[in-house]
Amino acid sequence: MAKKSFPLAKVYTLLEPGPVTLITTAHKGVANIMTQSWHTMMEFEPPLVGCVISGRNHSFAALKATRECAINIPTAELAKQVVLIGNCSGSKVDKFARSGLTALPASLVQAPLIAECYASLECRVADSRLVNSYNFFILEVVKAWVEPSIKQARTLHHRGKGEFMLAGETLKLPSRMK
Ligand SMILES: Cc1cc2nc3c(=O)[nH]c(=O)nc-3n(C[C@H](O)[C@H](O)[C@H](O)COP(=O)(O)O)c2cc1C
Repeated sequence: MAKKSFPLAKVYTLLEPGPVTLITTAHKGVANIMTQSWHTMMEFEPPLVGCVISGRNHSFAALKATRECAINIPTAELAKQVVLIGNCSGSKVDKFARSGLTALPASLVQAPLIAECYASLECRVADSRLVNSYNFFILEVVKAWVEPSIKQARTLHHRGKGEFMLAGETLKLPSRMK
């Protein structure tokens, strides 16, 4: 391959992992949603997920104060809502009303689950030591819900600037040889 120099400002478009998620919070009785794609698995069990949530977002203050949220995973059918929710703030609008998505009560946290998403993970903040320096929350998934009829979820994977890749084929190989 004859690779060429690539702008540092665009490196995220190569590595941004997806799937794009919808993070819900509830603060002082008000529920909110934000679109989120900068996240990473950190541990199998209990599952730990690291998430970058900008300090400029309304969700940041809610998560910092309540230490609870839900990570909801949408499929391609919700692409328009994903973009809409990622381009307005809960400080100004009721995003459940605007997007038409349905809030369901969670079992262990105050943040609602999104009925239309194929998976929802109830989370508590496990470690906030990197929040001040990197806006990086380490979340522990305390309860997970998945729609059993969806075997191969067509999740959205952000490539930057409004471009999304859809999850497609599954390749089954032994990823560990012993
Ligand atoms: C595809 C997509 C991915 C995004 N990923 C993130 C992210 O990982 N972290 C973040 O802080 N904001 C991310 N955003 C931006 C927030 O969703 C956006 O700022 C949102 O309006 C915040 O809502 P809030 O103020 O109600 O919390 C993303 C937006 C889009 C459209």
